[in-house]
Order: sequence, then C-alpha cells, then structure tokens
Amino acid sequence: MKKIIGVLIFAILSISSFAENGHNLWLRNTGNKSVNVVCVKSSPTLNIAKQELKQGWQGVDDASVEFRVMADKAIKGDGFKLSQNAIQANTESGILYGVYELLRRQQTGEAVSDAVINPSYELRLLNHWDNLDGTIERGYAGLSIFWRKGEDALVVSNNDKVLWQEYARANASIGINGSVLNNVNASPDMLTIDILNRTKAIAEVLRPYGIKAYLSIKFSSPSMIGGLKTSDPLDPEVIKWWNAKAKEIYSMIPDFGGFLVKANSEGQPGPQDFGRTHADGANMLADALRPYGGIVMWRAFVYTPSSEDRAKQAYNEFTPLDGQFRDNVIIQVKNGPVDFQPREPFSPLFGAMKKTTVMPELQITQEYLGQSVHLVFLSTMWEEFLKSDTYQEGVGSTVARCTDGSIFPQKHSAIAGVSNIGLDANWCGHHFAQANWYAFGRLAWNNQLTSGQIADEWIKLTFQQSLKEANTKDWTENFLNPVIQMMMESWDATISYMMPLGLHHIFAGDHHYGPGPWYAPKGLRSDWTPPYYHKADSIGLGFDRTPTGSNATGQYHEPLQSQFDDVKTCPEKYLLWFHHLPWDYKMQNGKTLWNELCYRYDTGLQQVRQFQKVWDKVQPDVDQERFVQVQNKLREQCRNAQIWKDACLLYFQQFSQRPIPYDIERPVTDLGALIKNDMGRP
Ligand code: GCU
Repeated sequence: MKKIIGVLIFAILSISSFAENGHNLWLRNTGNKSVNVVCVKSSPTLNIAKQELKQGWQGVDDASVEFRVMADKAIKGDGFKLSQNAIQANTESGILYGVYELLRRQQTGEAVSDAVINPSYELRLLNHWDNLDGTIERGYAGLSIFWRKGEDALVVSNNDKVLWQEYARANASIGINGSVLNNVNASPDMLTIDILNRTKAIAEVLRPYGIKAYLSIKFSSPSMIGGLKTSDPLDPEVIKWWNAKAKEIYSMIPDFGGFLVKANSEGQPGPQDFGRTHADGANMLADALRPYGGIVMWRAFVYTPSSEDRAKQAYNEFTPLDGQFRDNVIIQVKNGPVDFQPREPFSPLFGAMKKTTVMPELQITQEYLGQSVHLVFLSTMWEEFLKSDTYQEGVGSTVARCTDGSIFPQKHSAIAGVSNIGLDANWCGHHFAQANWYAFGRLAWNNQLTSGQIADEWIKLTFQQSLKEANTKDWTENFLNPVIQMMMESWDATISYMMPLGLHHIFAGDHHYGPGPWYAPKGLRSDWTPPYYHKADSIGLGFDRTPTGSNATGQYHEPLQSQFDDVKTCPEKYLLWFHHLPWDYKMQNGKTLWNELCYRYDTGLQQVRQFQKVWDKVQPDVDQERFVQVQNKLREQCRNAQIWKDACLLYFQQFSQRPIPYDIERPVTDLGALIKNDMGRP
C-alpha cells in the first residue's frame, strides 16, 4: 500500500512539475518577502496595485512602499516617479505601471534607481481582428476570447470574466491601455444593443487595469442597422444617427475609447462611396465622439487595382488631406507601404503628414511571418522601423519621434499592434510568440528600448525558475545568452528563407503562409499576385520604384530619395523593393545577384537548423512541456524553410537560367509538386 501511495505521489508531483502550458505568460513569479503598502486612497485600480506588489515583492523584507497619486510636472500622462520606497503618479494607472516596473526590476535583477519614467505614447493599443462568430481574421491561436457563436454567445460567464481579467492584467503589466475588441472588417452588428451590452461587460473588467475598450465600426452602419437610406457623412440624418449612437455608447461605457475605421479599403464602405473624402468621414465621427473625449483612429491602409504602384497609394490619398482632420482623429498607418511584409521600408506617410496625428500600426500576429509555427522575434523589426530616419524635419526625424509627439505639436500620440492572442492555453499558439505581445507593449511604452533588452527581460520573466537561478553564471551562459541570440537572429533568418534582398509578397494563395511566387490565377487582380511584386523575367528580378519605374522613391524625403534611387547607395536589404536588377548584377560582396539570392535562402535555412541545436541544448533548463512544443515547432519551421528555399530558387531559376552554386545543398523538392500542392498552413 505504502509503495502504491509513494508511486502515486511521485506521479502527481512529476505531472505538476511538468504541467506548464504557458498560460502564465511573463507573470509567473511570486514574491517571497513581505512589504507594507502605504496608500491613503482606495480604489479598484489602487487595490490591484497593492495586491500585485504584495504578491510579487522580492525586495527588502518588511520594507514600506508608499503610493502617491499627486501631480508632478515631470510626470507625463500615465508616467510615474519611482524610488525604492515610493511610487508617485498623476493617475492611478500610473501607480499600477510603477508597481509592475518595480516588480519587473526585482525579478530580472535590474537596479531600482530613482527615476521618472514616462510613456512614449499616450495611447498604446491592441487591435483584435476578432469576429462576432468567434473566428479571428489572421488569428493563429484559437478562437476569440471576446466573442463566440452559439446560444451562449451573449452570456457573460464567470470563465469569460476570469479570462478577460487575466488578459487585462497581462496588458497592464506591459503598459497597454486600450483594446479594440473586433475586426477592422467590422460587422455592422457591433453597434447593436446586444453587442454593446457585451462590450460594456468587457469594458468593466478591463477598466480597473487602466484599459479602455474601443470598437471597429462599419462606415455604412446608419443604412445597414439604422434604417437610413444613406450613410453619407454629410447627410444631417446620418450625423444625427452617429451622434445618438455615441450618446448611447457613452451612457453604457462612460470611458469608451472610440472608433477604429477601415474605410474604402479592400471593399469596405467609406465616405468615398458618397463622393466625400476620408477627412469628411473621419471628422463626422470625431465630432460625434468629441463631447465624451473619444477618438477616431482612421486607417490609411488603402489601395485599389489601378495602374498606380500599390506602395504609393496611401501616400497619394492621404497627404493632400493633411491639416483637414479634427484633433481627435488619428491616422493609423501600417509600418510599411504595402502590408506587414517580412521586411518593408517604412511608409513614407510617417513624418510627411505634419498637421495630422499619425500612429503606427504594427502586426503582432505573424500573418506573413510563419503564423504561430515559426519562431520569429518581431521586436528587431519594430526597432528597425521605429529608428528609421524619415529626415522630414532634418537628421534624427525618426519614425519614433515623428509619431510620439517629440517633433510635431499634436494633441494625442498613439501606437497599435494587431493582436496575436486567442483561446489557446498559451494565448499565442507558440510560446515564443508571447515575446511579441510583450515586446509590443514594452516598445509602446518606451520606443527607445533595444530588442536585446526586451528579449533579456522576457526570457528571465518567462523561463527563469527563480531570481537566484537568473543570476547564476550557468543559467546565463547555458540558457539566457543562447536563447537571446536565437531570438535576435530569428527575424533575419526568416527574411532570408522567405524574401531576402527586398523581395516581398510572394506568398501562395491568400493564406499568406507558404511560398507562391508563381501564384497568379486568371482573372485575379494583379496586385494580389506575387508576379506583380517580384517581376522576375529573363533579365532580372525586382520592382523598379525609381523614376524609371513607379517613382515611389519620390515619396521619401531627401537624402533617402536619392539614396534609394541609386542602386549603389540603396541598402541591400531593400534592393529588390526599389530596383529591377539583372541576374548578373554585382553585389557589394562581389557575388552576382543570382548567386547572392541562392546563398541568402540557404543561410536562412541553415540558421533555423542552428536554432534547433540551440533549443535542444537548453533542454535541461526548460520544463518538458514547453521544450517539446517549441522543439516540434522548430522542426516544422525547418521543413518549411526548406520548402521556401526550394520553391523560390527553383521558380526563379526558370528565369535566371543559372545554376544554383554547387557548394549549396541541392533542392530536395520538385517545383511541379510544390506548385501543385501549394503549401498551406499545416
Ligand atoms: C491584410 C490582411 C487582411 C486585413 C487587411 C487589413 O491585407 O490580409 O486580412 O483585413 O490586411 O489590414 O485591413
């Protein structure tokens, strides 16, 4: 009997020590010291702050920390002043952020020195592309945490509330203060009373964590659900309808954030359907929200199947409207001019709209970067983007400074990331995709952070067993350093095996997962097909966007325009984005373009094989569950990288008519079979 009990106890213990599904994200540490919190006020937010500090405290035993909600000129917005024994802030959310900062420092071993820490952006938002039926557009981590179909679609269950609270806590811990709860391709039903009631319930859970709820709206809602004949933004009845709708929403959700709008884009209705401009549409909504302090985020992701280069269209449409938008309208611009490609130069709209608030939209969900299968740390991409110099107001006019209020006088500043979370136990589908959620929040809070620092923090918070371990040399050498290095190289590796040297949008079909440089079904608009973007022919490869081509370079401020125009000064990472070059074009390293392309694809694949080795080697320092899951994903990624390499090289070889350099491993797949199978997402 004793023996059986012993075996049972052992079995239970081993299961629980391995039962690590990743649900706790970077919030897994509990403190082991006691702390006394001094705070004269009590409120839901301050109570959370108190509880978090007590629960996570790892500082001096029995220390006292005072919360002071008190204005200070040095503290901006949600910022805070931190010291060993006090957190001061203008707002209660500021206190909460200060608590998370203090705990993070204790947990990662970073010193707590006296400092004022202000956020780079006032509004730091996640955009959920969640549909009312629970599916998520470009979501790879299960169904929506907010919406579902079925009989209980509108029931707010206890489980819902628990999950929303966990979600809110995770966001607050990295400074995110807004959530757009539904897809930009919005259903008009979002504004019906049933859905607003559920929105209210979500907003109530998010509120104490300092997070406001926002909704994406359909521009034609007045005619679709309001019974009006038109949705013309200048029609008095339409204006009245939106005013009444805003009043209704704010009577239910007094701190409602505002609307996100995708208009006249990819078939969505918009003001142009009525001969009006983006400014007419956005301003009408902004006026309806203004009495309550709401804002409108109006997306600049617009393009039509015209003869104009798709990469130029947003700039062409929006720059003439600069200065015409209300001050509670923010133009939301994707990082690059096309569409969240593995790598793009920054959108020329940044810094070009000088009298309009412009906010970056990043994509956390890896639509074009291996979805939830490939390990890709996106922080390095966002860092490159934020640090890109637009030169719009002289040297140093980085995208970060053009958008965070450092350069242009603007009422608001904001940044958004398209969320990668769903109902999966680990939230993001891939354990390492959690790092992208984390990195987005950290960069939204501080757009000067380096990816190395973010990776270091995230790994310590997510994988360290205890602070002691994090500080031991062994753990640092055996786990932390190699994993940081893998993360830091992962974006570059993916670019190499997918689309090196400025290639873009050569995906198959519309799942945007595998390669499809050949994909061009008859009748499909050409700007939805890869040949439109790579322009491979017997002469060479790449999209000529210089004055001999589409002249998209003309949208960039000097000296960038000249730099991009001249093939000798154009950064090689953007070479085929801006130039159509002969296969024998000589690269900086002396290789021909064709050979360099082959080596790049091969290097990307080799890098993933290296990641496999790194991960296998850290096995002793990871729980079994996460170890195996990541190991399996890396295997899949490796197989995919091989397919990407084979598909692209074999396809382009038909045009280049040159051999793949003989020191590179040969393709293992057959082009015909690849085309036939059109790799879908596994
Ligand atoms: C991409 C994506 C769409 C999305 C669109 C957008 O094109 O594939 O699913 O709706 O971007 O950002 O609006």
